[in-house]
Amino acid sequence: MTDLTVQFAGLELPSPIFVGAGPNTRTVETCVEALRAGAGAVEFSGPCGAGSARGEVRVDQFQFLPSKKDARPGRYFGLASTGGRHKADIPEGRIEVKMERIAEIKRRSRGLGALVANIGYVGYRGGRVGEEFSWGEMARLSQEAGADAVSLHLNTGQSLAGRLMVEEPDYLRNVVREAKAACSIPIIAKLPMEGCDPVAVCRLAAEAGADAVAPVARYVGLHIDIESETVPDWGGYHGFGGPWSLPITTAWTGRIRRDDPRTAIIPGGGVMSWEDVARLLLVGATMAQVCTWPILKGYGVLPQALRRLRKWMEKKGYQSLDDVRGKSLPRLKESGELWARYWERGPYEGIWIEGERCNGCGACAHVCFFDAIHVEGESKARVNAAKCVGCGCCFYLCPTDAIQRPED
Ligand SMILES: Cc1cc2nc3c(=O)[nH]c(=O)nc-3n(C[C@H](O)[C@H](O)[C@H](O)COP(=O)(O)O)c2cc1C
Repeated sequence: MTDLTVQFAGLELPSPIFVGAGPNTRTVETCVEALRAGAGAVEFSGPCGAGSARGEVRVDQFQFLPSKKDARPGRYFGLASTGGRHKADIPEGRIEVKMERIAEIKRRSRGLGALVANIGYVGYRGGRVGEEFSWGEMARLSQEAGADAVSLHLNTGQSLAGRLMVEEPDYLRNVVREAKAACSIPIIAKLPMEGCDPVAVCRLAAEAGADAVAPVARYVGLHIDIESETVPDWGGYHGFGGPWSLPITTAWTGRIRRDDPRTAIIPGGGVMSWEDVARLLLVGATMAQVCTWPILKGYGVLPQALRRLRKWMEKKGYQSLDDVRGKSLPRLKESGELWARYWERGPYEGIWIEGERCNGCGACAHVCFFDAIHVEGESKARVNAAKCVGCGCCFYLCPTDAIQRPED
């Protein structure tokens, strides 16, 4: 039987799907539902705002872009975080409510996946305004309440967070060390991918003692409303995710795994199917984080995704996720390496010009970055194979389709 369990930092989880914090994990019910659907872990983010403290789901915590009907594969869309709008709602005793909820989720999900407490310094207050809990205190309280792991919410405000990590590496180091010292459950550092070098930032967190790194591809975007011709005020910071970000998440996951073969990586950004989960595993992810997908489709997609993943593994003859993880890494090439490959193999003889079709317009010579095409006597283009790398710019630009190249 194909085994979908995941082990890291002493945890044993039933599947590689990590349901990331968002409006879909703000209540006891939604977290229990995610775990019952087969999630390996769920990241409890609430309560956040008076509404969810009373157990309601605040549908206005996020906004569809450009509209819900556009939220389908093939479109560039993302869900914008607008949680900032509700900061003023924070009820007194919020931290206690959060810990009670953790205990309740744990009670109702025994034997299922892990409960991860998502903690962040900003906005988490005690009974009095201004009485803020430190990262360490929140980590300790989360463990006492029954959480299986703690995730440090360091990703919000992506580009600002990224800049902070680069300019003040001690900040990240100190937060991880403080949380680590305050509890004995695993610490997951949730990190930005924008405004920084994600490889360097993940390395920093791992060196400071994080048991897992969770780089998240949410980017600061801008939505212009064409009626008002300005940016709508949704609150929050306009952090966008969605399926368009998956190739970026995949590329960074591969680079982070190449840099650090050991630390658990739980990347997030753009996962919308079981195939996307497989893609991240293939470049070395320990688990794949999902958020936009279940928000749009509901947790009903998870059991089917896990069945399909299992079937694919059976077909390939993989018995466990260890057989899948990192399988694509040896074949990954950085763009620099790809260019080097062209230079190493000598002149590229692949393209040629159909003399009959060439009208000598010179568009190909103009676009060639490698100075490999010249129009002789203003009549026909000629290729210098010693300089051509086969990038294909001329091929796509030629107005008369005179440039030919072998079938890929
Ligand atoms: C509306 C929204 C709110 C989010 N809120 C939080 C949060 O409170 N804490 C956190 O660590 N991550 C938060 N995230 C990030 C997700 O947990 C997850 O890492 C990320 O969205 C994964 O990318 P995807 O949405 O493309 O799947 C939020 C994401 C969305 C879409």
